[in-house]
Amino acid sequence: MKIPKPLVEIVATGRYLPERVLTNRDLEKMVDTTDQWIVERTGIRERRLAEPEMLAAEMGARAACQAMERAGLHPGEVDLLVGATATPDRWLPSTACDMQAILGTKNAAAFDIQAACTAFIYAVTVAEGFLAAGRAEIALVVCTEKMSSITDWEDRSTCVLFGDGAGAAVLRRSANSRGILSSYLRSDGRLGDLLYRPAGGVKIPLDHKVLDEKGHLMKMEGREVFKAAVRSMAEACDVALQRAGLRAEDIDLLIPHQANMRIIEATAKYAGLPMAKVYVNVDRYGNMSSATLPVALDEALEQGRIRPGSHVLMVAFGAGFTWGSLVLRC
Ligand SMILES: CC(C)(COP(=O)(O)OP(=O)(O)OC[C@H]1O[C@@H](n2cnc3c(N)ncnc32)[C@H](O)[C@@H]1OP(=O)(O)O)[C@@H](O)C(=O)NCCC(=O)NCCS
Repeated sequence: MKIPKPLVEIVATGRYLPERVLTNRDLEKMVDTTDQWIVERTGIRERRLAEPEMLAAEMGARAACQAMERAGLHPGEVDLLVGATATPDRWLPSTACDMQAILGTKNAAAFDIQAACTAFIYAVTVAEGFLAAGRAEIALVVCTEKMSSITDWEDRSTCVLFGDGAGAAVLRRSANSRGILSSYLRSDGRLGDLLYRPAGGVKIPLDHKVLDEKGHLMKMEGREVFKAAVRSMAEACDVALQRAGLRAEDIDLLIPHQANMRIIEATAKYAGLPMAKVYVNVDRYGNMSSATLPVALDEALEQGRIRPGSHVLMVAFGAGFTWGSLVLRC
C-alpha cells in the first residue's frame, strides 16, 4: 500500500507534572497494599499528585504555554483550542474555555473532547480535520487530568493506578513530508460501566447520600478492562499501520497508553516490536488518562528517542470504551 502524504503535523509539544510524588510506599500507609504487588501487577512505582488548589485548567495551560513557546507562537495566533479531560474543574463552561482565558488565545474556538484515556488521539484527529479542511490555521491540543480528584483513596484496586498531569501539542498544516500518516478511532458504549463515575451528573445528581457512598468517584472492573485493553490496543496497532502503509519494522518508537506495564508488554509483543522500541513512563507517573500520551511524546522528543524522519505509533484505550491509534512521521 502507498504511504499517504501527511496533511497536518505536530510542530511542538509541552508538559506539566506536579512536583509532589506519591510512592508505592506512601500508598502502603493508606490502603492494604504493598510496593511489590503494585510493581508486579502494574509496573507503577510512583505517580504525581497536584496540590488541592491546583486546577486542571491551570495544569493544562502550563503545558500549553511550553508547547506554544517552543513553536514560537503568540497566543493570538492560535485559532483552534481542543481541550481534553475526564476531570473538568466545573461542568460549565468547558475546560478548554477556562484554559483559553488563562492562555489569552483570544482568537481561538475552544471546546472539549471527552474520550477518557484515548482523548489525545481523538483530539489530534479532530484538530487534523479542521486544519486539513482549511477551517483553522494553528491548533492547540491540550490534555489535562487531575485524576486524584475522582479517585477513591480507600479503594486499593484503583487508587494505586492513577496520577495527575497535563500535555499539549501545537498542530498546523504540513509543508513537508512530516506529520500524521494515519489515525483510527473506535468506541463501544456498551462497555461504559467497566470504568465510570456513577453519580454527579444529571442521571444521579450529587446529594449527601451520593457523597457518603462515594458515587461521584471512579469505579472500575479491572480484569474486564484489562482484557478489553489488550484486545483493542492490538486491533488499533494493526489498523493504524495498515492505513499508514507501514509494517511493524518501519516503526522506530511505539508510544502506548501507560495504564499497566503488562498491557504495554502485551501490545508490543502483538505489534512485533521489541521493548527497546517502546516508550515507558508508567513507572514514574501511573495512568494520567488523556495526558499520558502527550506527556510521553514530549519526553520522548526531549530524550532524542524520536529523530527527524522517525515513524512513531501511538495507541490508547480508555473508558467509553474508547480506543484508537495514530502513526506520525516526525
Ligand atoms: C487493576 C489490576 C492491576 C488488577 O490486577 P489483576 O491481576 O487483574 O488483579 P485481580 O483483579 O485479579 O485481583 C487479584 C487480587 O488482588 C487484590 N488487589 C487488588 N488491588 C490490590 C492492591 N492494590 N494491592 C494488593 N492487592 C490488591 C484483589 O482484591 C484480588 O484479591 P482476591 O483474589 O482476594 O479477590 C488489573 O486488572 C489492571 O491493570 N486492569 C486494567 C486497569 C486499567 O488499565 N485501567 C485504566 C483504563 S484506561
